[in-house]
Amino acid sequence: MDLKGRSLLSLEDFTAAEIRFLLDESKRLKADFKAYKRTKPLSGLTLGMIFQKRSTRTRVSTEVAMYNLGGHAVFLSSADIQLGAGETIKDTARVLTRMVDGVLARVFSHNDVVELEKYASVPIINALSDKYHPLQILADLLTIEEHKGKLEGLKLAWVGDGNNVCNSLLIGCAKMGMDMSVATPKGYEPPTDVVELAIDYAEETGAKIEITNDAVTAVTNADVVVTDTFVSMGEEKEAAAKLKEFENYVVTEELVANAKSDYLFMHCLPYKHKEATEEVFESGNSVVFDEAENRLHTVMAVLNCFMGG
Ligand code: CP
Ligand code: NVA
Repeated sequence: MDLKGRSLLSLEDFTAAEIRFLLDESKRLKADFKAYKRTKPLSGLTLGMIFQKRSTRTRVSTEVAMYNLGGHAVFLSSADIQLGAGETIKDTARVLTRMVDGVLARVFSHNDVVELEKYASVPIINALSDKYHPLQILADLLTIEEHKGKLEGLKLAWVGDGNNVCNSLLIGCAKMGMDMSVATPKGYEPPTDVVELAIDYAEETGAKIEITNDAVTAVTNADVVVTDTFVSMGEEKEAAAKLKEFENYVVTEELVANAKSDYLFMHCLPYKHKEATEEVFESGNSVVFDEAENRLHTVMAVLNCFMGG
């Protein structure tokens, strides 16, 4: 399958077969890591990495992936480039396009990655926006498949905020035939347009999408239980109010007793506001560090397919 030149703004833009291909490529790269280091498929190619927000996993996995593939990554913190001082996304896209072979961008507004893609003629990869975090979901799907041997037919429960990670999981699960039940406090449900998209995809794959305010309903009989910080980057001012509203949405041992006994606990990290208890986070069901490691293998597949082909 040829994905050369493609961009990844949202998993919406990829068919189930293309997602499957990226997951299989990730497994291949993970298994044959040393061979790829030797053959250097991205030799001579450079990736610009715009970061308007902090990052540990996304930044490190991408820089290491470019190194492993024989290419070079240029870290562009928005505090240090002219974008942070008012240069437009449109001009930044047109300048970078003439110098680099791909751009990965972590932005506040999803419109910024859309605008980057509109004016750039190289692949654009969304490294997290306020709406989506597609790279994270590729790593999540790989982690689930490694532990469960399949994706289709599993039930994933999301407990917490209906945020960017939840949105991308809704699309990823629906496309891959996984049921997803989302429990959030009232007013924090995922946006209607994303839920409608997921329901449309789910109709094609036979998956079930459920949105509820009841955490027990979501977790009942789940194969995978996922949460994320209650306060995403950019929402710091709302932290006190949100933490209060999310008090009943902490993933506790009592809550996960409703899931299947061999359930997986996942969290994209960083683990910040006690959205799960230490007992759950550190339990034998927790695969959070496999999930973090898989950020490397999945971004290698994305970069290799989009920039190397
Ligand atoms: N999960 C994730 O995107 O982590 P970082 O913010 O550390 O990149
Ligand atoms: N929802 C979180 C994810 C961090 C990786 C955020 O946007 O800050």
